[in-house]
Amino acid sequence: MPRDSKVKMLGVAFVLCLVCSILVSAAAVGLKARQERNKETEKRRNILQIARMYDPSKTVDEQFSRVRSRMVDLEKGQFVDSAAAVKELHAIPAGEDSAGIRSRPRFMEVYLVEEQGRFMQVILPVYGKGLWSTMYGFIALGPDLSTVTGFGFYQHGETPGLGGEIDNPNWLAKWPGKLVYDQSGKLRIEVIKGTVDTAGPDVRHKIDGISGATLTARGVSNLLAYWLGENGYKNFLQTMRKTGGVQP
Ligand SMILES: Cc1cc2nc3c(=O)[nH]c(=O)nc-3n(C[C@H](O)[C@H](O)[C@H](O)COP(=O)(O)O)c2cc1C
Repeated sequence: MPRDSKVKMLGVAFVLCLVCSILVSAAAVGLKARQERNKETEKRRNILQIARMYDPSKTVDEQFSRVRSRMVDLEKGQFVDSAAAVKELHAIPAGEDSAGIRSRPRFMEVYLVEEQGRFMQVILPVYGKGLWSTMYGFIALGPDLSTVTGFGFYQHGETPGLGGEIDNPNWLAKWPGKLVYDQSGKLRIEVIKGTVDTAGPDVRHKIDGISGATLTARGVSNLLAYWLGENGYKNFLQTMRKTGGVQP
């Protein structure tokens, strides 16, 4: 066929597209397992970092062997077998949706840290609306299931330098030691505007705000209010408290 034949040009373009699409598809399929593995490692690293257990000199898998993942039925407040934890989304009535997420799964994966059979930490996934984005993170609680041992986000789209300061290590360092619930079991944890009065009665429950990020900080308080409240993990944490943290 002559070089400038339309049929030849279309034929060459078609064959080129076919070859390229086969190459791209083969790469996507071939790398899928590795991508999944990397995603899982990244998730584990985030959990370890937020729970303040991460040691960069050791591998993530080695350190994550101390963490046990379990599924929780939020309706019943109990652990369930992961095989029973099918995908089931529940719509959240507008009046109860302080996290701004509209619906939440009935079953959530949580992470337990035990040392020599003693329960040390539970790490709970939490998420909700900030100013511009949904913020995804974890809160880690100690053996009394109220004292924060770590908190942070691994994904959000807040403005760097403003709402993005929720990733600032200095601010995150203010969380460990704070109490989510008071003596009567009332949910009290909150990020305030300004600085916490260190001599005030609420010092154990309140966290300093971030200047220029009041709206993002309000989102943080609101999403914690949802996830640590009656419709989130509160029933489960109560069950855990009764059983000394460890359930069969
Ligand atoms: C471009 C732009 C981006 C902003 N991003 C954020 C943000 O990510 N989070 C936030 O809380 N406020 C953000 N703000 C500021 C809010 O509009 C608001 O002024 C601020 O939350 C009030 O905080 P302050 O009371 O500490 O000053 C942004 C403002 C502008 C103009």
